[in-house]
Amino acid sequence: MAPKIFYGAVIHSKSLEELEILEDATLVVDANGDIVEFKKSRDDAITMASIPKDAEVYRLPRGEFLIPGFVDTHNHAPQWPMRGLGQGLHILDWLEQVTFPVEARFADASYARATYENTVSDFLRHGITTASYYGSRHAEATRILAEICVEKGQRAFVGKCNMDRHAPEYICERSADDSLRETEECISHIRQLPGCSQSKLALVKPVLTPRFAICCTPDLLQGLGNMMKADDDLAMQTHFNEAEQEIQATRELFPDLAARSEADLYESFGLLGPRSILAHCTIMTDYDKERVCALECGVAHCPIANMTVGGGFMVAPVRDFLRRGIKVGLGTDSGGGWASQMLAVMRQAMIASNAREVVSQGQDKSLSLEEVFYLATMGGAKVMGLNDRIGSFDIGKQFDALQITTTQRLDSAMTPREHGDSARIVFEKFIMSGDDRNISDVYVGGRRVAGSRV
Ligand code: GUN
Ligand code: FE
Repeated sequence: MAPKIFYGAVIHSKSLEELEILEDATLVVDANGDIVEFKKSRDDAITMASIPKDAEVYRLPRGEFLIPGFVDTHNHAPQWPMRGLGQGLHILDWLEQVTFPVEARFADASYARATYENTVSDFLRHGITTASYYGSRHAEATRILAEICVEKGQRAFVGKCNMDRHAPEYICERSADDSLRETEECISHIRQLPGCSQSKLALVKPVLTPRFAICCTPDLLQGLGNMMKADDDLAMQTHFNEAEQEIQATRELFPDLAARSEADLYESFGLLGPRSILAHCTIMTDYDKERVCALECGVAHCPIANMTVGGGFMVAPVRDFLRRGIKVGLGTDSGGGWASQMLAVMRQAMIASNAREVVSQGQDKSLSLEEVFYLATMGGAKVMGLNDRIGSFDIGKQFDALQITTTQRLDSAMTPREHGDSARIVFEKFIMSGDDRNISDVYVGGRRVAGSRV
């Protein structure tokens, strides 16, 4: 890959509350996709010696800017064909009636390949440069998903879903042993996909994916906990305190372990720690929050799914998570969430936080534009333990970026950019009303992998 040099406007997060908006920055990306220079103004001139001779030069016109790629911390790849379906159903009924029949189709490898090709392309087009994917429970389909991420150039965690009970026979795994064996095979396969260079392999990592405790026997949870303990490079993702119906059923299945909190339950199997990604976390006691914080787990906040499918209108206490220093990222939860768009998730995170401010009588202040952008980029990178690689444009990180265009000719939904708009206003217009037509180029590790530019 040729090195690249970008001249123009760059926007990324300096901190949770603060954006860095640079109108005349210079970014140099080397042949490995690493950011090797980041000059913040025209005066801060780059020395010619540091520009690789064969670099491709990109000069962003007015109205275009670079932002870091979006990080989706919770995404069910096999639910992509059913996004938005099953509104009004509570979580366990939604799984039984809508979700399991769709996921069962992934027993067929050719269906899986065709569908996952579209799935990964769709998320890339919407600027999701990194995703934490749940596969279905099928090992072969999950290996195919990992291969497609590598082929299409998306950074991803890919996990074979574990579920050996409380699911219809047509999709339930036969035993904990089968599930663990297939998980191990799947992990080995993903770590050495045939015919892949090291740099391509580095894009995709396996992740342990027990669906949730309801669908996993204690033996299975323990086996996965053992695997996590034995392997420092394995993350774990599951659904956590998502809905009343789910919490109640979990307590009935684990009357002792889950009596006080699902945190105690998952911790008892060795599944909680800095590499754990807990989706939803909507109904959280102080004790739940204390444990999640003390164990350094990350939260995948999925505001669209929380307020549509699965159990009504639930608003995770994100402000309190942030106050306590808990890591928070955003998730499409595609298909519990109806959208592939991280932009829609960011907007819904703001709406949800407005509701939370009202319900908490002003105690939990709503989230600002700066904050939701941070959650969609750096926050997600932290939740996935990738913050030294992605999430912003710091030197040494990989160049995972979106080039945003705001010209009127695009016919996008975006509120028009007008003469005299500041860079901050144009950015706000894009986040609040833009769409994939405004995402002209999507880069992962310095390579252009998608975008609306023809
Ligand atoms: N809990 C267990 N499985 C699922 C799932 O697929 N989606 C959501 N939203 N919650 C779950
Ligand atoms: Fe989910």
